[in-house]
Amino acid sequence: MSGIHLHWYLPTNGDSREIVGSGDDSPLGNGPSRSRFREASLDYLSLVAKTAETLGFEAVLTPTGTWCEDAWIVTAALAQVTTRLKFLVAFRPGLISPTLVAHQAATLQRISGGRLLLNVVTGGDPLEQKRFGDHLGHDQRYERTGEFLEILRGVVLPAGSGRRFDFRGKHYDIEGAQIDFGKWPLPDIFFGGASGAAQAVAARHVDTYLVWGESPATEAARIGHVRELAAAQGRKLSFGICLHVISRDTEAQAWEEAERLLERLTPERIAQAQAILARTESAGQRRMNALHSDSGTAALTARSVRDLEISPHLWAGYGLVRGGAGIAIVGSHEQVASLIEEYHAVGFDHFILSGQPHVEEAYHFAEGALAVLKSKGLLAA
Ligand SMILES: Cc1cc2nc3c(=O)[nH]c(=O)nc-3n(C[C@H](O)[C@H](O)[C@H](O)COP(=O)(O)O)c2cc1C
Repeated sequence: MSGIHLHWYLPTNGDSREIVGSGDDSPLGNGPSRSRFREASLDYLSLVAKTAETLGFEAVLTPTGTWCEDAWIVTAALAQVTTRLKFLVAFRPGLISPTLVAHQAATLQRISGGRLLLNVVTGGDPLEQKRFGDHLGHDQRYERTGEFLEILRGVVLPAGSGRRFDFRGKHYDIEGAQIDFGKWPLPDIFFGGASGAAQAVAARHVDTYLVWGESPATEAARIGHVRELAAAQGRKLSFGICLHVISRDTEAQAWEEAERLLERLTPERIAQAQAILARTESAGQRRMNALHSDSGTAALTARSVRDLEISPHLWAGYGLVRGGAGIAIVGSHEQVASLIEEYHAVGFDHFILSGQPHVEEAYHFAEGALAVLKSKGLLAA
């Protein structure tokens, strides 16, 4: 196992001192009040990126969706105001030609000095897919992603080689493709998706399999299963986990912050977000929804933040109004660091963390838990 790679999240859908939703739970419509909402302006995103870079994070994840800014374009802009930070760019394979993605990736590698990583998002929201003209069903989308990734790797050929790549599959018919990356490699391919169809594609094609975090015990079983699938293909993957984090000098302070976030969520807002999240086709999102479906209602009546603690120091409050990663690690810096260590022991090398607001929480985490992990020699060089 290699060391721990710490990444941060780029809030291209806006930021706040309250939980900002994603998907159709638009911050403009029913999210934080306007006075507390921070626009995802280039200035603000530059501040988050520079903060992440200064504090020692390796990369930032830029999400994809009509609810946020375009990940490629934001990355191209922010690569110019940073020097070391990498960008994990999310994109939907079905909506763009694999040769064009290779071309964009090669250009971004050149203009950023090799700081690109790719996050392949097959898509789990049928309404979102149809907005782009994509009418394939869930498993067919993954079949197409498999072909896409075969092409993406196949077209990477040096200019002087005289070689060209042809591919004829069910979803793509490519002739004579060749994309020169020069001195840079094809970026590492990250990929999320909790369904069987997703895991089959991960086992064959990707470098790092990503999950929206659940408890360490649940994740140990999931990693074991995906490792077996990959081994059957003669491959080895690394694993990454996405979690929010509330790290403070004392545990009591961290729970106070979680309590504050919960108090700002109105029952109407939770009900509206849950109705939207319930229509998902994503197995991963259904797993997130299930984590608070009972306790969420209880928490609303009892107003007790700990009702949403699904396992020690794991709080499901985010998932009440936000799609994607629905859980936060809550605790003192030492407790947060030791839970990250526990996840690392079950097999995760990549941690994509976030906290709202993303500048202030990056400091809380980095000056606390990150420093603890570093002092223990657990961070990747
Ligand atoms: C870490 C992680 C990040 C993801 N980022 C995005 C994103 O930015 N936009 C999006 O629409 N889906 C995102 N997804 C969703 C998945 O890529 C996938 O399309 C969806 O969960 C449906 O697959 P499933 O049914 O196999 O879970 C992400 C998933 C994970 C685990």
